[in-house]
Amino acid sequence: MTNVKKLFVKTYGCQMNVYDSERMATAMGASGYELTDAADQADMILLNTCHIREKAAEKIYSELGRLKPLKTANPDLKIGVAGCVAQAEGEEIMRRQPLVDIVVGPQAYHRLPAMARQADSGAKVIDTEFPAEDKFDYLPRGPKMKRAPAAFLTVQEGCDKFCAFCVVPYTRGAEVSRPAGRILAEARDLVERGVAEITLLGQNVNAYHGSADDGDWTLAQLIRALAKVDGLERIRFTTSHPNDMSDDLIAAHGEVDKLMPYLHLPVQSGSDRILKAMNRKHTAESYLRLVERIRAARPDLLLSGDFIVGFPGETEADFNDTLALVNEVNYGQAYSFKYSSRPGTPAAEKTEASDVDKSDRLARLQTLLTTQQKAAQDGMVGRDVKVLFEKTGRLDGQLVGKSEYLHAVFANCDAARIGEVVPVRIVKSVRNSLAGEVI
Ligand code: SAH
Ligand code: SF4
Ligand code: F3S
Repeated sequence: MTNVKKLFVKTYGCQMNVYDSERMATAMGASGYELTDAADQADMILLNTCHIREKAAEKIYSELGRLKPLKTANPDLKIGVAGCVAQAEGEEIMRRQPLVDIVVGPQAYHRLPAMARQADSGAKVIDTEFPAEDKFDYLPRGPKMKRAPAAFLTVQEGCDKFCAFCVVPYTRGAEVSRPAGRILAEARDLVERGVAEITLLGQNVNAYHGSADDGDWTLAQLIRALAKVDGLERIRFTTSHPNDMSDDLIAAHGEVDKLMPYLHLPVQSGSDRILKAMNRKHTAESYLRLVERIRAARPDLLLSGDFIVGFPGETEADFNDTLALVNEVNYGQAYSFKYSSRPGTPAAEKTEASDVDKSDRLARLQTLLTTQQKAAQDGMVGRDVKVLFEKTGRLDGQLVGKSEYLHAVFANCDAARIGEVVPVRIVKSVRNSLAGEVI
């Protein structure tokens, strides 16, 4: 097999990039490339990048710099940049780093195999168009290979919210939902490959409104239809905007057994003044009332959130409002970030540069969030949960997987049960996971 080429893919950023990387690998597979874990053996290296914060974007250039010796050793090596940095910076990437052969934006992945062929004949190739078609339908699915029991499935892409700090509406484009029938077909295909849990992905997933035979479906309608797929045990979705948390989706949390009791619902700040400046279009109070309604539908729901500290103009009083909101909500999981000014976003124009010590605020917020997360995790000890075992653990005889609440759980169990949802009693809370015993 002399003409099998090797592809090395490195993925940065959010879960949608994980999903996209897998689809790109499948598309390239149909063009004779197989995946390798060794960059130094690759005929093509693809970096699937993230532009969300300055650090994430700059990391790509240092990574590209590190690839130089590989290109020197093998001049036929092709290097591609995909993802949100590709979309945001386009040909600027090739100017800054001439070893790059391919720049491909997130809406053009179906054209990657053709671009690779052009690159092989010595061309520099860029595609950052936003075509109207559904890029996923141009990506072949590949042979029915067994795969890991938990999978991502993109149902919606792009965002029309334009939060003042965020690059996503520019890198992923306008909000587009995939037709419900195609999602159901893809879900059935995943289940045939051994998948038991699907996480529906979208930058604004709860704004989903994909077409179906009987009109546009909401995310709740899609979830109810997916729940009828035999062999699919668990459904999750991420990420949601508070303003798109509709009544039928809240109700689904109480009614659909396969929908897991975990919700990622970013709030960003607890100060109405800052929320307004962020163009979030909700208040701290409306968020709190929403959380109340969701918890009324599903009392054991574990809530997760995103926070930004040091947004331009954020005062100590604003920051204290964020701490107060966190205290009132009590998060089981959270992600928090220092504000990073992103070129082209409305907030980047603001002159009221926050001269506050962002690191100090982040540390204070994280101390509080970590306390809440630890309490939620420790509170699982003694409880019986259901764990979808995903792989073998660190120690012999151990398997690891996720509980309904997305806690990592490990327990002694026969490897034949990977892919099964197993009742487990939690016996101990350790640093970032729970120890359990199969019941
Ligand atoms: N709705 C999106 C959010 C993507 S960005 C989704 O699908 O996940 C994830 C998080 O990064 C945001 O919720 C926000 O908290 C953070 N973030 C976005 N832009 C940022 C910026 N300029 N600086 C710091 N954090 C940012
Ligand atoms: Fe970005 Fe806001 Fe859209 Fe989320 S909702 S992707 S934070 S613009
Ligand atoms: Fe990053 Fe793009 Fe995802 S900017 S967070 S990879 S949508």
